[in-house]
Amino acid sequence: MGKLTNKTALITGGARGIGRAYAHRLAELGANVGIIDLDLQSFKQFDAEAKAMTANSIIEELQCKGTHSAGAEADVTDFDQVSEAVSKIASELGDIDILVANAGGGAGGLGDSIASSMNLEMFKQVVERNLYGTVNSVTAVVPMMKKNRYGKIVTVSSQAGIQATPDGSYAHYGSAKAGIIMYTKYLAQDLGQFGINVNCIAPGYIGTGRLMGDFERMGIANIIKNIALKRIGTPEDCANAIEFLTTNLSDYVTGTVLDVGGGCIRGGNI
Ligand SMILES: NC(=O)c1ccc[n+]([C@@H]2O[C@H](COP(=O)([O-])OP(=O)(O)OC[C@H]3O[C@@H](n4cnc5c(N)ncnc54)[C@H](O)[C@@H]3O)[C@@H](O)[C@H]2O)c1
Repeated sequence: MGKLTNKTALITGGARGIGRAYAHRLAELGANVGIIDLDLQSFKQFDAEAKAMTANSIIEELQCKGTHSAGAEADVTDFDQVSEAVSKIASELGDIDILVANAGGGAGGLGDSIASSMNLEMFKQVVERNLYGTVNSVTAVVPMMKKNRYGKIVTVSSQAGIQATPDGSYAHYGSAKAGIIMYTKYLAQDLGQFGINVNCIAPGYIGTGRLMGDFERMGIANIIKNIALKRIGTPEDCANAIEFLTTNLSDYVTGTVLDVGGGCIRGGNI
């Protein structure tokens, strides 16, 4: 019996990258796993992600492991789409006990979106994808958690939501991720009375198939000189934090931000 046997977890943005590592970890702990993604085959956009796949989708990978798993394509920026996807997954797997609101990301180049000359269209897009996407996902899932008086919600910020870049670039993403941290704290205050824990993780430089090539172009040595632990993080490092925040190990932890940045000091652009 795993720590999450008889629990149902939902991960947004779980078709590739760090979200896929969350899906595998929660499945290994015994949970049923639902995935919502804009594109359940988004791994095809990056060779390194596609190479890592052992089946045609994360859903198939989990099913091969014997996990009860279901997926739905939906855009988290649209509440109606998320809500419909949540209902579909809950009807297949049962009420959602665990939500990891992971879908997100920036837009444009790392040197773009300087705070004082923001591309306003891009700002809107990134705030919608990250902050609205998180709020929409929580709002769709929380009625079943309140009804069951149980839930573990993990939101996903970034070191960029805690520390500014030295040159003020990528401010759209940092602002959206900072908003997620404060939303998490309000949500924890609101939902504690229902037996629902709400926490946030703030990854630093994590070497996914999407980003590892960029890190290599930027120079790994340049990046790790600003990281206390002197290495790029892995999706599994993030999954370790998710394991803590979704199991009974964190039953008396709520409203916190768990830093998974290896002691990175500059914030960086991600
Ligand atoms: N990789 C890092 O170094 C890093 C660092 C800090 C924070 N993060 C955060 O962690 C999360 C996962 O990062 P990643 O590197 O695995 O990203 P990724 O781009 O590799 O994967 C994101 C997944 O989310 C999906 N997605 C994107 N927009 C969506 C939408 N509107 N609706 C539904 N699904 C959507 C994509 O299709 C993709 O499958 C993101 O929130 C990201 O901001 C990542």
